[in-house]
Amino acid sequence: MSTKKPNLRELYSEAAIAGAVGRLAAAINADYAGRPVHLIGVLKGAFLFMADLVRGLDLECSVDFVRLSSYGAATTSSGVVQERLARQDPVRGRHVIVVDEIVDSGLTLAALLRDLEAERPATLRVCTLVDKVGGRKVPVPVDYRGFTLDDGFLVGYGLDLDERYRNLPAIWLAGPPA
Ligand code: IMP
Ligand code: MG
Repeated sequence: MSTKKPNLRELYSEAAIAGAVGRLAAAINADYAGRPVHLIGVLKGAFLFMADLVRGLDLECSVDFVRLSSYGAATTSSGVVQERLARQDPVRGRHVIVVDEIVDSGLTLAALLRDLEAERPATLRVCTLVDKVGGRKVPVPVDYRGFTLDDGFLVGYGLDLDERYRNLPAIWLAGPPA
């Protein structure tokens, strides 16, 4: 992969991300003290956020992953939830936290939350690093958010543009194509 970053400008630095992840972990530690939590990460984008978040948790914690859909080559949501890869572990009676790196339209998360609710977890919450509030098409209850953004397409720290840039340690705002 090229290391050049055309039309990208840094929005959240590595340090800012670490600070936000630390605050989210601290809030979860306080809210769930003494209770085991079951985290469900939304692939692919949440893989780095999940890895950092769990290391800040001072709780008994289990981890699962689900893959719901992907943007493919487009930079706006198709609104279609597809290409689902199933979760492994039952959620019934557990304290479930869905971990996503960004919530935009909310469509993928709303679909996942509906499925999870039907399986009767003890509690169900959502933790996202970035809440892109301007893109919301369906309401989604976001319980823990690191950053709030109105609009813009982000890459880095798990977020991709056509599968590129997921490995960048900071989060960058992608400008219009040159
Ligand atoms: P939503 O269903 O529109 O809320 O978005 C679902 C998924 O689209 C997110 O979990 C991300 O994987 C991806 N996504 C949304 N906004 C961005 C972005 O700005 N950059 C990269 N991926 C994004
Ligand atoms: Mg995602």
